[in-house]
Amino acid sequence: MLKTAIKAARDAGQVLTRYYTSKLTIKTKSTDRDLVTEADIEAERVILSVIAASFPDHAIVAEESGSTGHSAYTWLVDPLDGTNNFAHGHPVFCVALALLHLDKVVLSVIFDPLRDELFTAEKGQGAFLNGESIRVSDCQDLTASIIATGFPYDRATNPQNNLAEFNRMMPLVQGVRRCGSAALDMAYVACGRIDGYWEHHLNPWDYLGGALMVTEAGGTVSNMQGEACTLETRSVVAGTPRIYTQILDIIRQ
Ligand code: IPD
Ligand code: CA
Ligand code: CA
Repeated sequence: MLKTAIKAARDAGQVLTRYYTSKLTIKTKSTDRDLVTEADIEAERVILSVIAASFPDHAIVAEESGSTGHSAYTWLVDPLDGTNNFAHGHPVFCVALALLHLDKVVLSVIFDPLRDELFTAEKGQGAFLNGESIRVSDCQDLTASIIATGFPYDRATNPQNNLAEFNRMMPLVQGVRRCGSAALDMAYVACGRIDGYWEHHLNPWDYLGGALMVTEAGGTVSNMQGEACTLETRSVVAGTPRIYTQILDIIRQ
């Protein structure tokens, strides 16, 4: 299953790199900030065909084409996480795939095709970047941290748009990054490039695979209520064990 996930992610990554420098047709979805391009659609088609070739009975939950099938195994597919960046030529985006067995994430692959960085994790087996074991940073205190967040597409109308939390957090840390790819935010927590991350209003394909990656790398992850993340969860807090606790405290103030 890991081999299939890696092949699907790499094949999709090739699609994204090919479209990255070309003129794109860009459409909007839920709001005029929520974009989809032909690269999202084609990368998803490639991923689904790779999965179907090896596991035709597995269920799929895919961002662009929806849910199909019933099985103990369900693939979560985000063919292009960071579409806004991609559409502007900003080089921060990835392919994000996760596999659930019943309701637990057992495998996660996050692939950044521009940097050729392949993040992988399997439950109980640790987390890896290009085959090398990764760990969260040893950051203990928010004052010494760089953390990341994001803001929902409906932030102009949704009162829970994360601006209040952002205002509380910014004076307390060395920096808050808005990278524009939730999956890479989680992968970067896992490999210690940032020390924590929080975001509201996500979809499971954005971050659930990343949640496995962070825990397998020694970090802590939950929703904003401090509970385990599930397919129904829409928010996430992740970090080194100490930074996770401090972010959660500030979010919940
Ligand atoms: C988005 C990115 C972004 C996050 C949004 C997501 P998309 O995914 O992960 O960082 O802030 O909430 O929807 O739309 O580029 O796949
Ligand atoms: Ca996404
Ligand atoms: Ca996407």
